[in-house]
Amino acid sequence: MEYNSLLEALEWRYATNIFDETQIIEEEVLQDILKAGNLTATAFGAQAYQLILLEGKQWKERLESATFNQKNVQTCSHLLVLAHRTDLDSAYIKEHAAYMEQVRGLEEGALAGYERGFVNFLKALDEDKKNHWLAKQVYIVIGNLMTACALHAVDACPMEGFNAKLVDEILGLEEKNLNSVLMLPMGYRSEDDKYARTEKVRKPLDEMVIRM
Ligand SMILES: Cc1cc2nc3c(=O)[nH]c(=O)nc-3n(C[C@H](O)[C@H](O)[C@H](O)COP(=O)(O)O)c2cc1C
Repeated sequence: MEYNSLLEALEWRYATNIFDETQIIEEEVLQDILKAGNLTATAFGAQAYQLILLEGKQWKERLESATFNQKNVQTCSHLLVLAHRTDLDSAYIKEHAAYMEQVRGLEEGALAGYERGFVNFLKALDEDKKNHWLAKQVYIVIGNLMTACALHAVDACPMEGFNAKLVDEILGLEEKNLNSVLMLPMGYRSEDDKYARTEKVRKPLDEMVIRM
């Protein structure tokens, strides 16, 4: 099933607590969802993040305590871990600028101004601010992933409630220069999930939007 209307899909979606473990997301659907993540806008177009896709029981077992035994992680079809890079530096930017030049058929060095501007922007950030800025990009990615899930009638739950340090250790993310930020368990809602039947709570639109 797929939703044609974005609003209908967003009304349908909810932060899923229990998935039906017998239902697995098909590869084609998964690819579409991942592509939506990849198409997300990032500052400077740097895409300084990775999506780590986990499937199978072994990961659920290994991540059980680091995710506080949350049912959505334990019952999902696939678990996405969203991580930001920790090695964003002038070398990364140089390589990325060269890749952009290649994709766009530009001459070598055509994006030297972009490269300089980006490097100078980063220089102004201390380590904490840089990591915070990098993590913010990941929050935009999860928004698109969740919307893509909903359009495919795939259930999901955005999560920041996990022990990120422990998850990084278990998945060996530090060696890969990555810090986990968010998780997105995905699958199909279980009949046993009472939250599927609870009313969605949102403020009235005219209270939320300030028009000037
Ligand atoms: C950034 C973020 C982090 C969240 N972390 C968790 C989490 O760790 N565990 C969880 O069960 N739900 C988590 N949620 C889900 C929210 O509680 C849920 O989206 C919110 O209550 C609105 O409900 P709805 O998504 O069902 O409409 C998170 C949501 C967001 C956006």
